Amino acid sequence: MKYFFETYGCQMNIAESAALVLTAREMGWEETKDAQEAALVLLNTCSVRATAEQRVMGRLSHYAALKKKGMIFKLVVAGCMAERLGGKLKENGADYVMGTSARERFPQILKAAAQAAIGEQADSYIETDEKCNFSFSSIHYDHNDKSNPFRSFVPIMHGCNNYCSYCIVPYVRGPEISRKASSILEEISLLADQGVREITLLGQNVNSYSGELDSREKLAFPHLLRLVAEKLDNANQGIKWVRFLSSHPKDFSDEVIRVLADNPCFCRHIHLPVQNGSNSVLSGMNRRYTREQYLELVSNLRAAMPNLSLSTDILVGFPGETEEDLQETLSLMEEVKFLYAYMYHFNPREGTAAYDLPGKISREMKGERLSRVIALQKRHTTELLKKRVGENVTALIEGISRKNADELVCRTEHDEMIVVPGKPELIGSFVDLKISSLRGNTFRGSFV
Ligand code: SF4
Ligand code: F3S
Repeated sequence: MKYFFETYGCQMNIAESAALVLTAREMGWEETKDAQEAALVLLNTCSVRATAEQRVMGRLSHYAALKKKGMIFKLVVAGCMAERLGGKLKENGADYVMGTSARERFPQILKAAAQAAIGEQADSYIETDEKCNFSFSSIHYDHNDKSNPFRSFVPIMHGCNNYCSYCIVPYVRGPEISRKASSILEEISLLADQGVREITLLGQNVNSYSGELDSREKLAFPHLLRLVAEKLDNANQGIKWVRFLSSHPKDFSDEVIRVLADNPCFCRHIHLPVQNGSNSVLSGMNRRYTREQYLELVSNLRAAMPNLSLSTDILVGFPGETEEDLQETLSLMEEVKFLYAYMYHFNPREGTAAYDLPGKISREMKGERLSRVIALQKRHTTELLKKRVGENVTALIEGISRKNADELVCRTEHDEMIVVPGKPELIGSFVDLKISSLRGNTFRGSFV
């Protein structure tokens, strides 16, 4: 039996799709790149923007039309849209709607799809609409995914308690649940055994992690980071780099900074979403930090780790945002100089607190403000990358360049790309490189 997955949305969905792939494979299923051969098609969906949902609705109609033409496969909608819209998606052609907490139903769904493919009736009715308790998968790494076999996500939390006024995530993912530290450490061991070199601890707000070691002792994010660092030190297991995503600035404690500074396994690159540089906009967004607090955090991080690079998320065009507010965002960007930024404009999401706020900014003005933010960020990215030319860096060789088979593609701990001439035997190793030039946003380098 063959499956075909389409995954939309954030890293959490990518990690969860990988875990579903492993379940399917354990049950003897194989992946196909051609949906027309599949006995099960799964759409792992995102609700973050209306456009993301419309796209999935388009895919649903496409598959529903194929079924009408007589193709036999079961169509599953998983992820955040499944949580948000539930059974309604069946009206659009889904056979099963599997919310993020209904993952344990997946083996039954696979079985029913296999039975349908050979013309049998499913053994029993599968209830996917009822609310289930979320549980973490034990591993989220698909070694068959050739896009980057040396990297894996390790979810440590699920859900979010923050209710930023523009964000749908707390409504679709529910309240924060932290994974047991022992289960996180076990996954890290399994990943090391499979040749992974770099992991990203994943959660909507990793800084508010509040797990337990076993069922007795509570532990917070800095303690978890220490355990991860100790594990990598003691086991010398080949995982050399640890990243984490996403950090809410309000919860980024001095203790976390100390642990990061003490342990070189934590990459000197942090994604620290600021969203906006104006205090009145930050307050309307319910971010619960000020511009000054954000800048102080950046300065503390840089004092502790001088070679740190930062990336961020920036949201412009929030209701009520003025030209002065935009100037505050631009000046914050000038002050921090982010290496990269994910920049977007406000799109009201039904059900969130900001949906009905007065002071809506016109589409043209949102576009114009966004283009100014993007232009400034491009300038900063280029300036910072240019400064790196001539430096020696450690990089992980990830694969062969698509443009030239004699060249290898590598990534630095700042998440920069370097291309270097070299032999494929080196793929998967950490190497010391000298950055010799910059083309676009990619360095060229040579071995030191
Ligand atoms: Fe959304 Fe805010 Fe939670 Fe991030 S911290 S997932 S933006 S509510
Ligand atoms: Fe989208 Fe859900 Fe992630 S809404 S961004 S897939 S948490």
